Amino acid sequence: QTIYLKDYAPTPYRIVSVELDFRILEERTRVRAQLTVEPRPDTAPGTPLVLDGDDLKLDSIALDGAPLVLSAYAADANSLTLVEPPHRRFVLETEVTLEPASNTKLMGLYRSSGTWCTQCEPEGFRRITYYLDRPDVLAPFKVRMSAPKALAPVLLANGNLVDKGELGDDLHFAVWEDPFLKPAYLFALVAGDLGSITDSFTTMSGRKVELGIYCTHGKESECFYAMDSLKRSMAWDERRFGREYDLDVFNIVAVSDFNFGAMENKGLNIFNDRLVFAKPETATDANYHGIERVIAHEYFHNWTGNRITCRDWFQLCLKEGLTVFRDQEFTSDERSRPVQRIHDVQNLRTSQFPEDGGPLAHPPRPDSFREINNFYTTTVYEKGAEIVRMLATLLGEAGFRKAMDLYFERHDGDATTIEAFIKVFEDASGRDLSQFATWYLQAGTPQVGVSDSYDAASQTYTLTLTQKVDPTPGEPTKKPLLIPVRFGLIGPNGSPVGWNGVSGGTVEGDLIVLDSESVTLTFTGVANKPVPSLFRGFSAPVKVESGLSQDDLLFLARHDSDPFNRWDALQSAATTLIASAAQGSTWSATDADALRQALVDTLENPDLDDAFKAQAIDIPAETVVGRHIGKDVDPDAVAEARKALVTALVGPIAEKLTALYRDLAISVPYSPDANQAGRRSLRNGLLALLVAGSDQGAGLAAEQYSGATNMTDRYAAMAISARNWTSEAPALLGDFRTRFAGDPLVFDKWLTASAQAPDGGVIERMRATLAAPDFPRTNPNRLRSLLGSFVMTNPVQFTRTDGLGFRFITEAVVDIDKVNPQVASRILTGFRILPTLEAARRNAGLEALQALKDQHKLSRNVGEILDRILAG
Ligand code: ARG
Ligand code: ZN
Repeated sequence: QTIYLKDYAPTPYRIVSVELDFRILEERTRVRAQLTVEPRPDTAPGTPLVLDGDDLKLDSIALDGAPLVLSAYAADANSLTLVEPPHRRFVLETEVTLEPASNTKLMGLYRSSGTWCTQCEPEGFRRITYYLDRPDVLAPFKVRMSAPKALAPVLLANGNLVDKGELGDDLHFAVWEDPFLKPAYLFALVAGDLGSITDSFTTMSGRKVELGIYCTHGKESECFYAMDSLKRSMAWDERRFGREYDLDVFNIVAVSDFNFGAMENKGLNIFNDRLVFAKPETATDANYHGIERVIAHEYFHNWTGNRITCRDWFQLCLKEGLTVFRDQEFTSDERSRPVQRIHDVQNLRTSQFPEDGGPLAHPPRPDSFREINNFYTTTVYEKGAEIVRMLATLLGEAGFRKAMDLYFERHDGDATTIEAFIKVFEDASGRDLSQFATWYLQAGTPQVGVSDSYDAASQTYTLTLTQKVDPTPGEPTKKPLLIPVRFGLIGPNGSPVGWNGVSGGTVEGDLIVLDSESVTLTFTGVANKPVPSLFRGFSAPVKVESGLSQDDLLFLARHDSDPFNRWDALQSAATTLIASAAQGSTWSATDADALRQALVDTLENPDLDDAFKAQAIDIPAETVVGRHIGKDVDPDAVAEARKALVTALVGPIAEKLTALYRDLAISVPYSPDANQAGRRSLRNGLLALLVAGSDQGAGLAAEQYSGATNMTDRYAAMAISARNWTSEAPALLGDFRTRFAGDPLVFDKWLTASAQAPDGGVIERMRATLAAPDFPRTNPNRLRSLLGSFVMTNPVQFTRTDGLGFRFITEAVVDIDKVNPQVASRILTGFRILPTLEAARRNAGLEALQALKDQHKLSRNVGEILDRILAG
């Protein structure tokens, strides 16, 4: 059953206030809800009240204190209807019994390693009590909870603690009150035997906020980086957006079983523990980076998500795109802006572009869905962030801040829409953004074509930009978008070239506004033939067919003043060579020589920092090249072509790279700061080149593995060895597994690296791993580490012509779907690659999907993804 945005209507009743009473016992939890309900002014008397439920069983029901007669209501697992509620304010009281320990879907109230916790976004609250479980129903919540003291000495919920005490039978209770109106998806409760660290933050207006991070006993010392990140996030949001925290407490709880990364529940964020725990021996630099980012992301939701929330789930991008933009900006300010930008674009290209160019493409603001959980996508999150970034680019820094101020002022307390968001930017800037809004409403990655010419006699430079978007499912024709193109013209000596005048289109400073299918700009007074540097800083989420020669790309790689475009020029140069070789042509020795020289020049440039250099020498992954080729892709050929290019690049300079690799060793104690992390990433980037492209690499990796004093270096050595399946790889994987036995988050790293091995034995090994009696088959982190990384990063084995890789995944999906449909459907999205593959592989994949559809009863989550891929 499909739900449409066009059918949106407010509820006929509103919920004035909520009082909940959770009586938690070891084997079950009783939930009593008292909802004060009121018809809206225009609701006709006699209109039924329909509350949502999911897997609930009603124990008792009363209205204004009197039990309801059977004919007055209808209850089943999925809804509770009051047939003819009173036409006035009334109190509805219901009681249900939950079994959190058997809740393997991890939505609603569940138990993770003994701790009771909740996940309600988007529709989990209806698994706790009957409710109007939608984001436009806002109410104040008061929560009373009791539990056995021994099992749950810690009792937490949203808001402020207002009462606590002892009860008989070794029980105790706590009462939490959240004064802020909130939708049910922001509800949270935690009860358990947890350790904690505490700190405090004084806000800009001088209020003291108590901060706490709760975790399994023994893990406290691994929470300090998260706490530090939280305090820096709170300070940054005040500085950059003028946003202050609003409650007296802010708590974070780390749990081991969690469907996503983390959740922004008001005053009580709940985190997947992989995004909280860090110590140098078991966490990589990337883990520290991720913790900082997600702690910030969830904290920033307090304003963009909680104070201002979404009217309905079609508007998810309103809070997620904006909040991702905010967390990207935070990291840019805390670390290096260009490095962060490259990182974010790389992520966009490896995950969002494939989504947007395949059967699962959808607009950032979709207009229909079967299962909303399938729309927590990289398009909603990361493309959503790019759209906000384009607004910031168009309005400029001051204009953007002014608009954001207006957004907070106008919409605080609202459940609102994308349209209202855009209106704020129009009102604050005086710009007409109606065409811009298409970014939210249309799927697909625009392709921008470039052609230019220079007339020396008249000193005129002509630049033509075109745009087109290929059809996506359900959208055969596309409208032209408003695309901001930040640009510069570079002269033969590498310095900028100016112009006197420009005609034919809109140019605002260093910004071309491409707003139709084709724009031809004529620049006059251009002294020399320039090379155009377009989309500086990746000013729009598009694919550019620059038409630049290898020479021009490498020229930009050396001379562009925009670090992003320097990086991007190298990426394009390498991608082009690999792609053409994978499609049967070959590059010339001159091409490889020129690219090698550009890489060496980059490495030797004293003005560039290590983290940037690491990104510059990172040869595009097979999946990126495959995407670039776009159709009839043979992943074996791509992998071979990539390896051949790396070998050609590295061969003549292997000694030089090895020396540099050795020089970059760090002798001081580990710190996760950006400088050290950058140095390690460059060193490990060199190691990756040497392993893929020289004979001495495999040995170096083995040496690094054994000598490593931190997880970043140890993991890099193992993962690079596994990806290249060196002769040492099996031994390194074996050692890693026993060395860290018993640490689940390190086990994830082993699973991820194991799944990336390109050799023919990988599927059999993964089968054995999954079949081991002690494999935790209900834990999302374990499943995603193994199966998620296999489908997304091991195209050679996943898309095998004999279908073994595809069937391995569909069979796993059948099992996982019974336990946790969200995890199952997420893994299945790996099949979105099918349309890009050569026929034999594509057909093998379709066959596996068809068998999945024909032979199994599947969840709505998996069913929707499956049907969309088959239809695409
Ligand atoms: N709002 C959370 C975040 O982005 C994600 C929650 C998604 N959960 C889910 N079950 N779909 O920070
Ligand atoms: Zn979010």
